[in-house]
Amino acid sequence: MELTDVVRRRRMVRNFIDEPVAPDVIDRVLENGLHAPSAGFSQGWAFLRLDEPDAVARFWTAASPPDGGTDSWSEGMRRAPVIIVAMSSKQAYLRRYAEPDKGWTDQDEARWPAPYWDIDTGMASMIMLLTVVDEGLGACFFGIPPERTGPFCAEFGVPDDYRPIGALAIGHKAPDRRSPSLKRGRRTASEVVHRGRWGGTSAE
Ligand SMILES: Cc1cc2nc3c(=O)[nH]c(=O)nc-3n(C[C@H](O)[C@H](O)[C@H](O)COP(=O)(O)O)c2cc1C
Repeated sequence: MELTDVVRRRRMVRNFIDEPVAPDVIDRVLENGLHAPSAGFSQGWAFLRLDEPDAVARFWTAASPPDGGTDSWSEGMRRAPVIIVAMSSKQAYLRRYAEPDKGWTDQDEARWPAPYWDIDTGMASMIMLLTVVDEGLGACFFGIPPERTGPFCAEFGVPDDYRPIGALAIGHKAPDRRSPSLKRGRRTASEVVHRGRWGGTSAE
């Protein structure tokens, strides 16, 4: 598929049919994600691959709010046979940038213009979402509620220096309901692109 087609076709899919995804497709999704850029080539990310029904069920139990979080949205999502949890390590970046070629030996967080650990893991997640589209499947990136981060990490033995930034539910698409958020409409280039200066619309 052409890149523009992949990009334009990508949608967060929240409803899946009950059909497994071939393991080599999941391999490809993950491998592509590992080609994301990362600051200082730190690659301070990790991905938990859950592709067995029992593991997926344990994920939903650990990551859902006490009421079970069983609204109509998550109902369709829970049928996804694959969950990939994307995790980032701030410590990996602080350590990497303390190396001689970077030299931030104080490991001061104030040096960071933005949390690159989360940005890079998000970039890897984006490549995975696009690969899913290219494979003719659907996916949704969604957050794990902060109060469920601890239970999730405990359930899956995630070490202290890694924290989930979100999860991808992946599977074969079922007819989807549009997210109410889409009513907001896509912001146009003229609204968000500033040419030459803030508010600039053309080369002036
Ligand atoms: C960082 C991030 C977190 C998101 N969290 C959720 C979520 O928790 N639940 C959900 O249903 N969708 C979630 N979404 C999906 C957005 O609602 C969706 O991307 C947006 O409405 C635009 O729709 P589209 O991606 O289908 O174009 C998230 C997207 C991003 C980028």
